[in-house]
Amino acid sequence: MRYLLLFFLLFSTAPHLSAEEPTDERLEWFRQAKLGIFIHWGIYAVDGIDESWAFFNKYISYEDYMRQLDGFTAEQYDPKAWAHLIANSGARYAVLTTKHHDGVALWHTKLSDLNVVEKTPAGRDLVAPFVKALRKEKLKVGLYYSHLDWSHPDYDVFIRGQYRYRDDPVRWERFLRFHRGQLEELVSQFKPDLLWFDGDWEHSAEEWGAASLSDTLRAWHPPVLLNSRINGYGDYATPEHNAPIVPPEGAWELCMTMNDSWGYQDNDHNYKTPYQLIRIFADVIGGGGNLLLDIGPRADGTIPSEQVDILEEMGRWTHKHSEAIYGTGAGLPSGHFYGPTTLSADRQTLYLFVPHTSDKPIVVRGLKNHVNRIRIVGNGTKIKGQILGKQYWSSVPGILYINVPPGEADETMTVIALQLKGEVDLHR
Ligand code: GLC
Repeated sequence: MRYLLLFFLLFSTAPHLSAEEPTDERLEWFRQAKLGIFIHWGIYAVDGIDESWAFFNKYISYEDYMRQLDGFTAEQYDPKAWAHLIANSGARYAVLTTKHHDGVALWHTKLSDLNVVEKTPAGRDLVAPFVKALRKEKLKVGLYYSHLDWSHPDYDVFIRGQYRYRDDPVRWERFLRFHRGQLEELVSQFKPDLLWFDGDWEHSAEEWGAASLSDTLRAWHPPVLLNSRINGYGDYATPEHNAPIVPPEGAWELCMTMNDSWGYQDNDHNYKTPYQLIRIFADVIGGGGNLLLDIGPRADGTIPSEQVDILEEMGRWTHKHSEAIYGTGAGLPSGHFYGPTTLSADRQTLYLFVPHTSDKPIVVRGLKNHVNRIRIVGNGTKIKGQILGKQYWSSVPGILYINVPPGEADETMTVIALQLKGEVDLHR
């Protein structure tokens, strides 16, 4: 009995808690990064169809899907230009799909011939030169890797309500060895700053061995961050497509497409406007998160001009407003200002992201601090505020009205800095 108890104490792990809590130090660069660029690049760009899901959902047969291997040329692939474009957008990291659910590896894996070196006209490792180019631009390196692999003969896929193989532990062990082996290749060859997992949902944390896997990855490369798609054993949450109204606790990152597709799709021109994306970005950083904005290069490695234009506008805007973005933290709780806000690290500068242009003033309520100065970020213009409703006998602050001169407004989104006397102090 005593031994049984000892066994439980030693080997039971509370669900969703990693054995070693992430230290803030490891997450520091991530918290400060604010913007990352996601890249979905794979053979699905050849026909411009859904990445992996096109055959899983039976929109196309597996054989026809795999025929795209023959058209994946990467002949115009310019990893330096990609990294440069990403750095200029204001992003501080990038995440490249090294292997999506279809199982096609973008690096030269030794564990399967289903890789772009052996099976496509690209004929070379596409991950290595990109990792090098990112590092040259001082960008952090994120590698996307799908746990599930719908091409691997040993993978126990869950389809039409049931598993392909039931109770075949030998097969599953074989698959896990392959899975661990590929991850070992990625970690040892590229020393990623971030492993961006996906596709954990068909198996439980126990089946994936998620607890020991996350420990192993951190043992191989201690600084590596893991997103949460490892059955919850990672470092940060990854909401998708829409910013959560109530920001998650701890570090988080919203991943989002520019149009309606992760990968390149020739007929998808439903792009969000720069204003819409910058507004989403402001909402995200105002809630203390990062935005991982996706691009989908073509099969030849060129990036569609709509995507380049968006990245360039993000770059103009993030450079102009960098003080309100990098080094800041989540802003005010809702109700004080009708728009996103961030706070400087010393909490003495409040940044207001003004979502509209208007000849009417913007309003800040419940701010107890004296405001030393109000200025427009990125152009130095000082503006005056007006405080209404302040009673000398009451500690309740007045309402601060600020007129943003229309001529000084940013063409996409204006940011106002309020230099406060002391750390921000709110009346709720
Ligand atoms: C989902 C999809 C996948 C996409 C990913 C990006 O998990 O299955 O296709 O790559 O989201 O976050």
